[in-house]
Order: sequence, then C-alpha cells, then structure tokens
Amino acid sequence: MKQTVIGMLLHFLLVLFGVLAILVLIQAQDQSGFISIDCGLSELSSYSETDTGINYISDAKFIDSGVSKRIPPTEIIVKQQLEHVRSFPSGVRNCYRINVTSDTKYLIRASFYYGNYDDLNEPPQFDLHFGANVWDTVKFTNLSLIATSEIIYTPSQDYIQPCLVNTGNGTPFISSIELRTLNNTAYVTNSTKTVLSNFLRFDIGSITNIEYRYKDDVFDRVWFPYEVDWARLNTSLNNNDLVQNDYEPPRIVMSTAATPVNASAPMQFHWSVDNENDQYYAYFHFNEVEKLAENETRSFNITVNGDFLFGPEIPVHQAVHTIVSTKPLTGAARYLFSLLKTENSTLPPILNAYEVYKVMDFPQSETEQDDVDTITNIKKAYGVARNWQGDPCGPVNYMWEGLNCSIDDANNPPRITSLNLSSSGLTGEIASFISKLAMLEYLDLSNNSLNGPIPDFLIQLRSLKVLNVGKNNLTGLVPSGLLERSKTGSLSLSVDDDNLGLCTMNCKKKNIAVPLVASFSALVVIVLISLGLWILRRQKVVVTSSNSKERGSMKSKHQRFSYTEILNITDNFKTTIGEGGFGKVYFGILQDQTQVAVKRLSPSSMQGYKEFQSEAQLLMIVHHRNLVSLIGYCDEGEIKALIYEYMANGNLQQHLFVENSTILNWNERLKIAVDAAHGNVLFMETYFLHFAALYCPLCEFSGLDYLHNGCKPPIMHRDLKPSNILLDENLHAKIADFGLSRAFGNDDDSHVSTRPAGTIGYADPEYQRTGNTNKKNDIYSFGIILFELITGKKAMVRASGENIHILQWVISLVKGGDIRNIVDTRLQGEFSISSAWKVVEIAMSCVSQTTAERPGISQISTELKECLSLDMVQRNNGSTSARDELVSVATVSVSTFLAR
Ligand SMILES: *[C@@H]1O[C@H](CO)[C@@H](O)[C@H](O)[C@H]1NC(C)=O
Ligand SMILES: *[C@@H]1O[C@H](CO)[C@@H](O)[C@H](O)[C@H]1NC(C)=O
Ligand SMILES: *[C@@H]1O[C@H](CO)[C@@H](O)[C@H](O)[C@H]1NC(C)=O
Ligand SMILES: *[C@@H]1O[C@H](CO)[C@@H](O)[C@H](O)[C@H]1NC(C)=O
Ligand SMILES: *[C@@H]1O[C@H](CO)[C@@H](O)[C@H](O)[C@H]1NC(C)=O
Ligand SMILES: *[C@@H]1O[C@H](CO)[C@@H](O)[C@H](O)[C@H]1NC(C)=O
Ligand SMILES: *[C@@H]1O[C@H](CO)[C@@H](O)[C@H](O)[C@H]1NC(C)=O
Ligand SMILES: *[C@@H]1O[C@H](CO)[C@@H](O)[C@H](O)[C@H]1NC(C)=O
Repeated sequence: MKQTVIGMLLHFLLVLFGVLAILVLIQAQDQSGFISIDCGLSELSSYSETDTGINYISDAKFIDSGVSKRIPPTEIIVKQQLEHVRSFPSGVRNCYRINVTSDTKYLIRASFYYGNYDDLNEPPQFDLHFGANVWDTVKFTNLSLIATSEIIYTPSQDYIQPCLVNTGNGTPFISSIELRTLNNTAYVTNSTKTVLSNFLRFDIGSITNIEYRYKDDVFDRVWFPYEVDWARLNTSLNNNDLVQNDYEPPRIVMSTAATPVNASAPMQFHWSVDNENDQYYAYFHFNEVEKLAENETRSFNITVNGDFLFGPEIPVHQAVHTIVSTKPLTGAARYLFSLLKTENSTLPPILNAYEVYKVMDFPQSETEQDDVDTITNIKKAYGVARNWQGDPCGPVNYMWEGLNCSIDDANNPPRITSLNLSSSGLTGEIASFISKLAMLEYLDLSNNSLNGPIPDFLIQLRSLKVLNVGKNNLTGLVPSGLLERSKTGSLSLSVDDDNLGLCTMNCKKKNIAVPLVASFSALVVIVLISLGLWILRRQKVVVTSSNSKERGSMKSKHQRFSYTEILNITDNFKTTIGEGGFGKVYFGILQDQTQVAVKRLSPSSMQGYKEFQSEAQLLMIVHHRNLVSLIGYCDEGEIKALIYEYMANGNLQQHLFVENSTILNWNERLKIAVDAAHGNVLFMETYFLHFAALYCPLCEFSGLDYLHNGCKPPIMHRDLKPSNILLDENLHAKIADFGLSRAFGNDDDSHVSTRPAGTIGYADPEYQRTGNTNKKNDIYSFGIILFELITGKKAMVRASGENIHILQWVISLVKGGDIRNIVDTRLQGEFSISSAWKVVEIAMSCVSQTTAERPGISQISTELKECLSLDMVQRNNGSTSARDELVSVATVSVSTFLAR
C-alpha cells in the first residue's frame, strides 16, 4: 500500500517536472537571459511589446518605494515600456534589487523618458548609483528626449542594485530597466573588473535608416544608422548565410557597409571626448558584402590619430570579423580613425558597424554579503524608518545613516563597524542576528523601548568596544562576559540608566526552582539538537548534492562537499602542502577561485575520527580572524576531509626554522605572539559559550574564570606548537588544529587521558610525568613557543652534539642577564630591549614548574599586547634597536624578573 502511494507520488512529480521543463524551454526559446522591467507598470501586469515581442514585467517586486506615474496621452510615446515611470518624491536614494546570475556578463540598460509626466515641464537631473558605486548622471537637454545609461558588467554577487539619487535638482524617475546576458567571451577587456559604458554604436551604410534591436540583435543592443557622405554597399543575407563570432552583430546590420566615394581616398571618421584621461575600447565589425573577382582584393590598415592599430584587414565574404583595440585608447581629446587601402588592394576599405565603450571605474566592492543580510534583517525586524536603501557602505558619501564601515583599498568587501540605532523607536527584544555583524565595534541601542534581557550572544561581537543599551526597558542579568570585558577596559558598557529591571552583579537570587528549570531546559536543548542531527542525517540520505538554498535565507558559511567535489577542488590531490598527524593537507581552489587547504583524514588513522568530528563541530561555530576558518567538510563513507581557508604564508615553524626563509623581525614576532594568544582566548571562550553552558547550566557565570576555576569542561588545545600557528598573507597568525582538544563531560573523565597528546618539546612535563591533564598544559606549550620566537631556536636545541631542551639552554642565559645572548642573533640587535625582557618574563612564567603559578591565557594576551605597545613606542621615539637603548632599562627588567 505504502509502496503504491509513493509510486504515484513519484509519477506525479515526474509529470509535473516534465511540464515545468517544457514551460521553461518555451520561455527560454529566445528571451533567455533577458530581464525586462517596465518601471511604474501596475503590479502583476506584464505584456509583450509589439515591435520586439519582448516580455516586460512590472517593477513592483524589485523595489518597495516610489510612486507609479503615467506619461500624459498628449505626449508622444514611442515605445510601450516608456509609457509608465516610477518616480521618487521621497528619500535621497531609492534602489532596485534585481536577482541575476553572478559572474555572468550582462548588458544593463536604464532608460528615462520624462514626457512631462509631472506636468512641471521641467525635466529633473539626478544621479544613478550601481550598488556601492556611482554610475551616471541623468540629464535632459530636451523634454522629448529619451536618456539611457547602458553598461556591460559582470556582477560578482547574485543581485544588482541600481539606485536613483536625488541631488536636489528635481525628483528622480525611471522608465525601464533591461538586462541581457552577453557571451562571456565577447567585450573582453584587460580586466574582468572593467565596466564598459556604451558611448557609440553605429550601423554603417544602412539603406533603411532605421535603428535595429531585438529580434534582429540577439542581445538586444540598439544599432543606430550612421549617415555620412560615403558610398553604400549592401547585400542580402539569409538565415545562416553569415558566419557569426562571439559578438553576434545583427545580420541586417552586417549586410550593409560604407566605402569612400573616391576609391583611392582613405575612409575617415572621428569622435571627440570630454576628458582626455578617459579610456575607450573600440570594436569594429567587418563583413565583405561583395563577391570579389579573382583579380580583386580588398585589404586595408586601420590607424588611430596616425598610429597603426591593426592591419592589413581583409574582410571575409559573409563572415563577421571584429577588431578590438587591444588596450584602451586614452590621452586624446579627439580620436581620428583612418582605414587606409594597402598597396596591393584593388578595392577601397569598407566598414559595416562599430561600437565604442568608455571604461568606467567601480572602485568600491559591495559590502560583505553577511553584513548586508544582517543589516537588512535588522531593518525589517525593527521597521527602521530611515532611508536605508542600496549598498549599506557605499558610495562613501551615501553610507546608511547610523552606520560606519571599514573600507580598505585592497578590494576586500567593506564591513559594518558601527551601528547607531539610538532614539529610533525600537521595540521588542534585542534581536539575535545583531551578533552576526562580526566586525562591529560600536553599538548604540540607547533611548528605545527595548525589553527582555541583554542577550549573551553579544559576547560574540569580539571587536565590540562600545555598547550602549541605556534608556531602555531591559531586564535580567548583564552577561558576565560583557562585564568581564568592561572590567578589563576592552569594552565601554552603558547599561544602567532607566533600565530598572537590569542588574549587573549580585541580584541573582538563590532559588530552588532554578536548577530544575535549568536542567529541564538543558534537556530540551539536547533533545532539540539530537532531533536536528537526526533530521540532518535523514536529509543526507535523500539529498545527494548539497543545495545551499535549502538552508534558509541566510547563506551558510559552511558547506558539505562530496568526494567528487573534493577531487575537483584539489585537482585529484595534486599539490601537497603539509602533513599532519591525521593525514596530508592539499592545496585546492573552489569554483569561485577561493584558495583553500584540504586536510584529508587518512583512512588508516580512523582513531582520528573523533578528533575529526570535534574539530569540525567546533570550527563550524567559531569564526574569527585569529582562528583558521573552516569552509566546509566532506564526510562520505571512508572519505573524511576538512576544507580550510588557505593560509598563504604557511606556518610559524617554516618561518622560524626553515633555512632561506625571510627572517621575521621583532615586531612581526610580537604581533604573531599576540595573535596566537588572542586566538587561544577566543577559542576557549567561544567553545565555552557554545558547549559548556549546555553541559553545565548551573554554574556561576563569570567569564573565563568559569573555564579555569569553576565548572567543567576544561577546554584545551593540547597540541600547541609553531606548526599549528598559521600565517596569512599579512602575517596575521591564526591557530589551527583543534583536533586534539575536547571537552570532558564530567569530573571523572577530566583527569583521564584517553590517548597521549602533544608533541615532544612542547608537552608539559607535568602532564608527561603524571598523565593528568590540566588546563595549564597549554600555557606551558605557549611559553615554549614564546621562547622559540625570542631565540629563533627550536624546542629541542642541538648543543655540543646532543639534543637538549630549549629551557635548559635559555634559563642559564636569562640568569646571565644579557638579553642580547638570548634574542635570535639573526635580528642583529634590531629589537627593543624592554619589550624583549618582558616577553622573556611572560615566557618564564608560562613554563613555571608549578602549574598554579602559570598565568591564564587572557592575562598572557594582555601582557603581550603591552610588549607590542612598548615596542611601538620605542619605534616611534626613533630608538629602534637594542643598541640605542639605555642599559638601565635592561637592569630594571632583570631585577624585576629575578625578584619573582
Ligand atoms: C531574489 O533572490 C532572493 C534569494 O535567493 C529571494 O529571496 C528573492 O525572493 C528573490 N527576489 C526576486 C524578486 O525574485
Ligand atoms: C526636442 O527634440 C525634438 C526631437 O529632436 C525636436 O523636434 C524639438 O524641436 C526639440 N525641442 C526643443 C525645445 O529643443
Ligand atoms: C588595463 O589597461 C589600462 C591602460 O593600459 C591600465 O590602466 C589598467 O591598469 C589595465 N588593467 C589591468 C588589470 O591590467
Ligand atoms: C559564445 O560564443 C562562442 C563562440 O562563438 C559560442 O560557441 C557559444 O555558444 C556562445 N555562447 C552563447 C551563450 O551564446
Ligand atoms: C579584373 O578582370 C576583369 C576581367 O576579368 C577586368 O574587367 C578588370 O578590369 C580587372 N580588374 C583589375 C583591378 O585588374
Ligand atoms: C599596413 O600595415 C603593414 C604592417 O601590417 C605595413 O607593412 C604596410 O606598410 C601598411 N600599409 C599602409 C598603406 O599603411
Ligand atoms: C603585394 O604584392 C607583391 C607583389 O605582387 C607581393 O610580393 C606582396 O607579398 C604583396 N603583399 C601583400 C601584403 O599581399
Ligand atoms: C517596561 O516593562 C514593564 C513590564 O513589562 C511595563 O509595565 C512598562 O510599561 C514598560 N515600560 C516602558 C517604558 O515600555
């Protein structure tokens, strides 16, 4: 019974699918790749334009602002798509958002026909933006003219945002927006980033003197007849008579050509430009329209302002040949083109058509997609009544009100760093997605009517420096993680004024009901998670290819890859870039050209599967600049692999110890130490936030101390060493390889080592001796790494023929009191003595015999930052090297150290 029902369902689905496919095919017959929008047309309306047969649709689903208007019947309306306009009486910037296929070359055309639609008899002037960039200024010299702005552009996102911008010269409006996909191999310039703006497009020698577009032109370009006193030549071309190239100029355009009246004279034409520095690309299309006799030839050279451009061109009968200027033309106010008959040619030159495009600059990348999605959600959730339209961060003068963004010139997408929603009438709770603005430094939600608690998730905003939630109606505890940061001065926190229900520290009442409720909620969470996992597992069986659309509207950062995809990404595991305890690491390239490192778990080391899982689980959640990001994973039967961001500068080990590598200078070493410490703090805190709370909902909530002193589980990396500290292209350090870390669920387990962990030289002797794990084991390893950074020597030093541990070597030198004997000689004295002593001091405390004397990682992090600022100060004061420094500084440091 069940079987037949499923069978019927399948059958039905198949039929439905077939019908849909046929419908899609019919649609796609000739207008595939076309998006034709009649702006201002009433919602849900559409029509097929009579001259071209192009299907136009209403713009209603692409924009939510503006008003629909109609050109009065007394005006001439040459095309139906110009009959309506959408006009924007309010808001400075109003934007369309149109879905496209990313990385596809589009011809994008916006048209504006004023037609006195507002009865003011005065056409406005306004600007066009394209996402984060300025596109054009629209102006009219004459009421009855149609203005168009047309570009050829390859969007990198899967939407575009054309915007109309009020510049104080009248109300902006728009008549139509047309998108047509082009052949990616046509209109190629020296960079895929180049935007081409149409400047001229002429049909030469036209005998009809009418303009041609779709269906004559498959890409719906508009070709204007060009009238000069040349002789016209024409032929008739039937279907398939003309051999096309990637540009596919229309047959009707290519069937006519012009030639000089005086057969021995050159064929000349020119155009003038406003700005000599502008760059232009010219495209000449040729087709021999005459059938030449045996003794006839047509051959000519093309020059621009007297300089040779191309030649000899010998047009081929009934075949399109296109000549492109290989580099952009620039540096002249007037470009004179000459087609010069070569000596052997019996016939004068011809020209069928040409196009000229101006190179446009879209310098600013679109804002990071996650930030855009998040801020859009915030806008929707709170109904923010501001003119928040288009790209949040660009163009710079049009950044959304209340936002600030980091914009660098390295083509990185801008990130939102500041959000001020003070006095904006916000109601309800603080929305969780605010925590997705990962780079946020400043958040002001004050003077609204927000209620509920200050949520824990705000702790995830690692860069947050200022948080103001004062003058609201918030209740409950202030998350201890925030208080902690406020205490250490890294966060300026304003919570108190008028939030009467809010308490910071001691308001937690002893309440018997709490444990029960807490355990119960923990249980619920666990059940929910198990349910989620179960559903995921089921989906895994049904859905074989990963489909990101199924994961909801927010794009997931992490992807599941199939083995075949892994093969493609790594080009069949072609390049090995490393080898870890669990297998090899390969270089790979994703479809979007992102470089990645693929870590494959070797089938033989299946005992590593647990570590594989814990690493994947952890990194799925953690995302920070001091932790290596996981892009995805593969878990297909025997094949397990993790896909990470590619770290261009390899690992610290290579930089410190491999010969011929460039020597890291002192400042770089300090920065790496700071990054690595920060990475560790983060790693622990985040892990704690996401997992520990589940296991241990009843514990006192007090930030890092929770981890270190109170509750389980203790979180450890357990294999810190230079080869696990990776460096990106800017030498920023990120911690990798959490494979060995794990959280122990209960007290008994926490002291039991289930497998040996760590690497000789870095592993805590205390642990090796007793086999007991301790949260300070990592601190020891970190201290060893600090010594390696200071001395440039490996953890196991080769001295007088035998391997000794770096500590044996360094401790006597520390007592000797001359820092220059300790610091890496390759630095040739280029370091500041005071910062070097301080790092030695920190390192010494890390490797302290008694684990209790070792500082916590957050303290280490803070102190290392001080070293860095010491070094900076010294540099700024001009004394950049140890040689210049006062000896007294060193003496003070030594005595401080020896006093410990
Ligand atoms: C554009 O794409 C987004 C995400 O894929 C989707 O949510 C939205 O509905 C689409 N918009 C239109 C107008 O099709
Ligand atoms: C506007 O342009 C049209 C067509 O080119 C022309 O006939 C008309 O005279 C122009 N009007 C003005 C005021 O220039
Ligand atoms: C393309 O050529 C122009 C002019 O020669 C130059 O300014 C520009 O930098 C080039 N772009 C690339 C990506 O090579
Ligand atoms: C692009 O041009 C190439 C070469 O002319 C042709 O093979 C290909 O089919 C064209 N693609 C499209 C989408 O028209
Ligand atoms: C080509 O040959 C034809 C006769 O076959 C003659 O009439 C014509 O003048 C010749 N043209 C040239 C350019 O020699
Ligand atoms: C045409 O260009 C060729 C080089 O491609 C050159 O040898 C020839 O002299 C040129 N002829 C004229 C008429 O400029
Ligand atoms: C021009 O004609 C001469 C003599 O017939 C020949 O040697 C030369 O190769 C020809 N040049 C071209 C470019 O066809
Ligand atoms: C604050 O919340 C309390 C309790 O929900 C409510 O009675 C009060 O009206 C709220 N005050 C404001 C200003 O929203």
